[in-house]
Amino acid sequence: MKPIKIGLLGLGTVGTGVVRIVEGHQEDLQSKIGIPVVIEKILVKNRSKARAIQVDDHKLTEDPNEIINNPEIDMIVEVMGGIEPTKSYILDALEQGKHVVTANKDLMALHGSDILAKAAQKGCDVFYEASVAGGIPIIRSLIEGFSSDRITKIMGIVNGTTNYILSKMSLEGADYAEVLKEAQALGYAESDPTSDVEGLDAARKMTILATLGFHAAVALDDVAVKGISKVSKADIAYAKKLGYEVKLLGIAERQDELLSISVEPTMVRNSHPIASVNGVFNAVYVHGEAVGETMFYGPGAGELPTATSVVSDIVAVAKNLKLGVTGQRAVAPYKEKKLKSAQQISSKYFLRLHVADKAGVLAKITQSFANQEVSLGSVIQQPLDESGAEIIIVTHEASKANMNALLEELGQMDFLKGIESYYRVEG
Ligand code: NAP
Ligand code: HSE
Repeated sequence: MKPIKIGLLGLGTVGTGVVRIVEGHQEDLQSKIGIPVVIEKILVKNRSKARAIQVDDHKLTEDPNEIINNPEIDMIVEVMGGIEPTKSYILDALEQGKHVVTANKDLMALHGSDILAKAAQKGCDVFYEASVAGGIPIIRSLIEGFSSDRITKIMGIVNGTTNYILSKMSLEGADYAEVLKEAQALGYAESDPTSDVEGLDAARKMTILATLGFHAAVALDDVAVKGISKVSKADIAYAKKLGYEVKLLGIAERQDELLSISVEPTMVRNSHPIASVNGVFNAVYVHGEAVGETMFYGPGAGELPTATSVVSDIVAVAKNLKLGVTGQRAVAPYKEKKLKSAQQISSKYFLRLHVADKAGVLAKITQSFANQEVSLGSVIQQPLDESGAEIIIVTHEASKANMNALLEELGQMDFLKGIESYYRVEG
């Protein structure tokens, strides 16, 4: 039987894993699909670069046309990353009736609707399981496993690099910059790790998850984003003392038909299973009206975990090709997107303030909380230096709008030396 031929775009961390799995698991893959799967050509930037695996030299190319315009190739597997020229390559490939598997969350979060529309028009498959949470099959679960339910909340650690950094800072007291370098060396980080540490990578993934979970076209701009670059060892130590861990959490919620989506460093109560997810591991908690609470856990980045998801998508496309049912899976959002206002978003918050240590300061702070209708949960004060004090406050549930107004009011107080940190609190 004629083999299914793949054009691989990229032979970096993930591409290397894809070659390893397709070659190493060939017998199993053939048994599952019924047809051999062959990597025909591989696009790279630099053919003469040393590679972690041995690849026939004739398979490597620097010319995308040898793949995109190659009539022998049935399927493009895109693991090169970035927006352009990647988007053009994918659209051109779809135009020619080639199916697409991609691990590219940047592209799917920003241009997923154009790509899926083109695929539907051409009767092609586009699968992107590896774009969210590496080796965890969360996209398939949202599309298929939860198709009978109405999802109310998706909360997760969806970036391996930042979880690796925060875990090492919390468990080993490691230094932020050092651990970031380690995560880069291990192949977890994006080519520009700013998108990991500033929360953009997680925001892109939450855009994809929220769109699939809530059936509304959530855009990247709908996600409130804050990264981990300002999380200090002091914050992590306070979190521990109070019974929390600091995690970069993506939280997408639906209340009636109103949505809110955010990515921010969050203090998570250490009794919540997400608090004990460490290292490069990711976890996605999904709450459905009927099913209740579920949680998915696994490696969120790295060569073989990510390639596992990519190759599962290859198998899915290959099976569809064999059955002649490609282009049937596209899930278009069918609900109108309605977002919550800041007044409608509520949470508990942690605040760490540095203030002048003099009479009446605490009274003025509590008055500001009262002015903005933010109720105090707990307050700790301790000396900072000869003239200053540190005040730690955990609030009860408060609206985001009221918290913003409170921060603004506190910022104008003459006794305030600084709002050192400010975190959402979960659980
Ligand atoms: P990577 O290690 O940087 O590899 C990128 C590969 O693409 C390299 O082989 C590079 O060629 C090639 N490439 C890049 N730009 C190219 C261009 N313009 N023309 C031709 N070839 C080009 O990246 P990666 O970590 O494997 O990530 C790939 C994709 O998977 C990204 O979208 C990333 O977000 C996603 N992803 C990564 C992980 C992970 O753990 N790393 C997990 C999930 C998803 P050279 O080798 O010649 O430089
Ligand atoms: N840089 C990403 C992460 C890769 O650290 O999670 C997986 O998407």
